[in-house]
Amino acid sequence: MAKTAQLRIGDQTIELPMLEGTEGERALDISRLRAETGYITMDPGYANTGSCQSSICFINGEQGILRYRGYDIEDLASRSSFLEVSFLLIYGTLPTPSQLDYFTHSIRIHTMLHEDFKALFSSLPKDAHPMAACSAAVGALATFYPDSLDPRNSRQVEISVHRMIAKLPTIAAYAYKHSFGQPFMFPRNSLEYVANFLHLMFANPCEEYEPDPVVVKAIDLLLILHADHEQNCSTSTVRLVGSSMVNLFAAISAGINALWGPRHGGANQEVIEMLAAIRDEGMTARQFVERAKSKDDTSRLMGFGHRVYKNHDPRATIIKKACDDVLAKLGVHSKLLEIAKDLEEIALKDDYFVERKLYPNVDFYSGVIYNAIGTPANMFTALFAIGRLPGWIAQWVEMHGDPDMKIGRPRQVYVGENARPFVPLDQR
Ligand code: SDX
Repeated sequence: MAKTAQLRIGDQTIELPMLEGTEGERALDISRLRAETGYITMDPGYANTGSCQSSICFINGEQGILRYRGYDIEDLASRSSFLEVSFLLIYGTLPTPSQLDYFTHSIRIHTMLHEDFKALFSSLPKDAHPMAACSAAVGALATFYPDSLDPRNSRQVEISVHRMIAKLPTIAAYAYKHSFGQPFMFPRNSLEYVANFLHLMFANPCEEYEPDPVVVKAIDLLLILHADHEQNCSTSTVRLVGSSMVNLFAAISAGINALWGPRHGGANQEVIEMLAAIRDEGMTARQFVERAKSKDDTSRLMGFGHRVYKNHDPRATIIKKACDDVLAKLGVHSKLLEIAKDLEEIALKDDYFVERKLYPNVDFYSGVIYNAIGTPANMFTALFAIGRLPGWIAQWVEMHGDPDMKIGRPRQVYVGENARPFVPLDQR
């Protein structure tokens, strides 16, 4: 294949270097375009624009393929654990037993928060959305650890990474406990990561609590499935904010805010609220699908569609199966799951969705499991953030490992007023 493409603008022809990735993805390098032609490109939503070369996550949206560091998501989902996948994403290889022990131990002993965090949470309204509380608390981590904020100091980066992974579940659980006035629980170092999170969320000082192994395994699976996803909105946010050389905590706090949006990670909360509304208003699945198609109705079939997947999202396929398994083991019958399956069956045969290649995405079924274990809907996106955290970190570390890293600063095409004279107030 030619190594360059030719671009002719008027009587000028320039050569654009061509890149090809290890999975055959191809790109035109336009980094010299403005210098050589005065032109920039325009690509709202960056649907055709690559921001980086990355070795972390690969998606083939046409074939419904998702891999972390070359391992198929199906293999990792059935054979790995969330902390092992976190190590894989951040450090690039599956850990040896001793590496995994060190990583797991280091995280386990950093799960506690400084006691002053209780004052931070108690200053928030009871109905504060957990994502607002999480982004505020994660940003505040930078004030408690001023000695480990340098993104170019490998020792400081390692301790910040471990602290971040260790403390986000505690922060999320504090946000939940604060919302209904229950005391914050201390982490239990005798529990592994997900079991500890469930303890922080659902235990209370008045009675014994042992996390259900079925629930632990289901949440661990969901965290694996959410762990990374190329340059999605929140990951691109972490990279852009991180490119200013700000500390990891600030970049992750920004990523949490991007994920909160209903078009992104906030969709999992929107899905369960959509399913509950269909149930409570006595709508049929067909009636709602017709609303989602109508240009006169702002409703969307939340949890459907994806910028990259134009075939099944492999994560949705795995989660749908997990729903049946987990709910059967818990002895839970979910009307919401029934409605979700009806919606999917109708939409996948409907021309509107077929023509637009709209399939269930990761958010469509995940909330059914979260709901079945008693997690409130406004905590769903916080669980998404706990899952996506190692991916954000891995991408942030990869960016800082690039010796050519530049601050992210897109251009624009100005379409405002041309130069005009100032008019004094008494003449307007
Ligand atoms: C995540 O990027 C990632 O990788 C994200 C993520 C990750 O792991 O990080 O996978 C996680 O964010 C999953 C997506 C969660 N969001 C939702 O489920 C919200 C519902 N879906 C959409 O709003 C939408 O599908 C997006 C945002 C996911 C994708 O939007 P695009 O690619 O910009 O597509 P679009 O909004 O331009 O829609 C194209 C057409 C439009 O119709 P027309 O103007 O052509 O007539 O499809 C329609 C849209 O109206 N459409 C939908 C729809 N999604 C798109 N119509 C009804 N229901 C939907 N869900």
